[in-house]
Amino acid sequence: MMRNSLTSEPANENVGTVPPPVAYERNLSVKSNSAVNGEYQNLVLDAPRDLLERCRAGQFFHLLCPATELDAPYLRRPMSIYGFFPEKGELQFLYKVTGSGTRALSTLRSGHTLNVLGPLGVPFTIPHKAERLLLVARGVGLATLAPLALEARRLGRHLTAICSARNPGLLMSLEYFESLGADVIPVTDAENTSDPSNLERIIEALIAGPGVDALYTCGSNRLLKLIQHLGERHAIPGEIALEQQMACGLGMCHCCVRAFRRDGEIVNLRVCREGPVFDIQEALAW
Ligand SMILES: Cc1cc2nc3c(=O)[nH]c(=O)nc-3n(C[C@H](O)[C@H](O)[C@H](O)COP(=O)(O)OP(=O)(O)OC[C@H]3O[C@@H](n4cnc5c(N)ncnc54)[C@H](O)[C@@H]3O)c2cc1C
Ligand code: FES
Repeated sequence: MMRNSLTSEPANENVGTVPPPVAYERNLSVKSNSAVNGEYQNLVLDAPRDLLERCRAGQFFHLLCPATELDAPYLRRPMSIYGFFPEKGELQFLYKVTGSGTRALSTLRSGHTLNVLGPLGVPFTIPHKAERLLLVARGVGLATLAPLALEARRLGRHLTAICSARNPGLLMSLEYFESLGADVIPVTDAENTSDPSNLERIIEALIAGPGVDALYTCGSNRLLKLIQHLGERHAIPGEIALEQQMACGLGMCHCCVRAFRRDGEIVNLRVCREGPVFDIQEALAW
């Protein structure tokens, strides 16, 4: 049995067979931490090559957000790897300020130190024969999916990125995807182009035209249902990166457990250890 349809390695049958995580705790120096737009910040850390070479698209780090005058975030906060560049010695995150942890992160300035634990979790897989990849991302999901463009370029595969946001001002990473050779299709709520029926039309045209060999998405229930449906209809494998509130991030506390459909049964899996990337057909809509 395969862990999922994109993986060529034997599957982990259940929680107990997942090998223990190899994660590193490091204090990294902040290079910059700047606003991308009204909602998102880009945090750039100075990171050693050995750590960056372990990173894969879809994995995350557990960040020890600093205590500030306003906030004393207790647990670490999970954050997807937005970019990892061994040649520049940079590890990047793209985050939205939603509460005390991310508010504290936004106070970090160049020269400050951040304690990180990772890389953690199961990454995306790109099948050997998948020449044309399609990712569909919305909002902060772009942070999780952006490194796929890096890996697609490194492997010489073609990537199309459908980037969705509430309005054009919140569309992020378009130039980043383009600079990595991806075809970018922006859609927004404000322009009435981001609804599932329009996305379905766009994706059907891509499948009928140049073709799509693998599908990737993250986080949104709407996108999950759409990509699941299209994947099933055209027998295209796909993966989804899921988010769940986490405590340990290492598989011990079980606070991130969600239900999945695997081999005709409902199974409970830890998003931090068996995920955060799952076979799209295994994920249950919520
Ligand atoms: C694997 C993984 C990768 C992630 N990657 C990113 C990323 O790249 N960029 C980014 O901005 N965010 C990302 N998140 C979400 C991020 O971890 C939360 O926004 C953050 O922990 C919120 O912490 P806080 O203290 O600022 O807010 P809190 O005060 O803890 O929460 C604020 C609000 O966010 C919700 N929330 C908290 N944690 C999560 C979570 N894990 N998932 C969904 N909602 C949550 C809470 O229910 C609450 O409504 C990721 C989450 C996971 C599990
Ligand atoms: S966060 Fe503790 S098991 Fe996943």
